[in-house]
Amino acid sequence: MAIRRLQDVNVKGKRVLCRVDFNVTLDKQTGEVDDDTRVVAVLPTLRDLAARGARIVVCSHFQRPKGKRVPEMSLKPVVANLSKHLGKPVAFADDCIGPAVEAAVAKLKDGDVLLLENLRYHAGEEKDDPELAKQLAALAEIYVNDAFGAAHRAHASVHAIAKLMPVRCAGLLMQKEIDSLSPLLGQPARPFVAILGGAKISGKLQVIVNLLPKCDSMLIGGGMAYTFLKAQGLPIGKSLVEADLVAKAGEILAEAKRLGKTFLLPLDHVVAEKFEAHAPSKVVPADGIPEGSMALDIGPKTVARYSQEIAKAKTVIWNGPQGVFELEPFNKGTFAIAQAVASCGAHTVVGGGESVAAVNAAGVADRITHISTGGGASLEFLEGQTLPGVAALES
Ligand code: 3PG
Repeated sequence: MAIRRLQDVNVKGKRVLCRVDFNVTLDKQTGEVDDDTRVVAVLPTLRDLAARGARIVVCSHFQRPKGKRVPEMSLKPVVANLSKHLGKPVAFADDCIGPAVEAAVAKLKDGDVLLLENLRYHAGEEKDDPELAKQLAALAEIYVNDAFGAAHRAHASVHAIAKLMPVRCAGLLMQKEIDSLSPLLGQPARPFVAILGGAKISGKLQVIVNLLPKCDSMLIGGGMAYTFLKAQGLPIGKSLVEADLVAKAGEILAEAKRLGKTFLLPLDHVVAEKFEAHAPSKVVPADGIPEGSMALDIGPKTVARYSQEIAKAKTVIWNGPQGVFELEPFNKGTFAIAQAVASCGAHTVVGGGESVAAVNAAGVADRITHISTGGGASLEFLEGQTLPGVAALES
């Protein structure tokens, strides 16, 4: 079914409720926004709305206050950041519904921006409450959903509200996310290489199962690799393992073989006895993890083999770091993979908070075709699930 695009909606002089995902991180010392990736990501939509004379009411969740007014979870710190990026003042309402909010919305002139307080201060948000949705819907004539990061949540401002709004559409970020991720599930240019990592298989199991038949090669790194290596009967020392998933990992390996896929596991590892920065470490071969050690990164042979595979790709999806990239010196494998992805010249998509942080830390973010703002949302999308926030926009 079709989803209306922002470009096709006349917004001049109209009140537009724009749902965004401002689930940003704050600096513990200053309380200011320190990673504003998600603010920057919705600027094209907000600038477009402002330029076309909309009266913009921005709403978002922030963290998980569970229906209570938790002062540390206020969206107020985002005002300064948003205002800096838009180059104009942004008003703030200290609730998201009610008479004071309605009055603040009524005062907006064409092009003005008002940010509402955290939607999750109301328990109804996470319950997809129709009454909360109705009160939010009453604030505007047009609903724009640009919160891809929250599209996997059937929450009032993402789901229940959409059907109440006669004019609803996807914002520019939402469109970009859908347009960039959809080919990975449809007809990707081949070879299609999926790089998966992160601590656990459990969180990525459905993604692996769904992508395996679609991709040509799957490269596995990070903690999840060790459950696969255990399934192959290799020694893994104290490395992370999900004992209850060893059999499932074995089934995936067998399925990859049956489908004729290239399924790569680490050929060597960087091991240490302690899980801490600068712990003494060494490189060992695939079958050489000592009993008292744990693997914390992929080794140089693995980097070379994975990079070779990535270099041949026409489409790459990467979700999950290849090692404990936040601890020196166990970041090298992940950073090398980030370089390989950035240099391969394919359609490259990176999703998941940690991989995004890794491409940023590796300084290659501007050479990735699309960096998804969705953590859970991009995973569920790649699992092949219908996201409630996307489905609700369909007409
Ligand atoms: C995210 O950070 O992935 C989104 O903002 C969704 O947040 P949630 O997991 O608290 O629903």
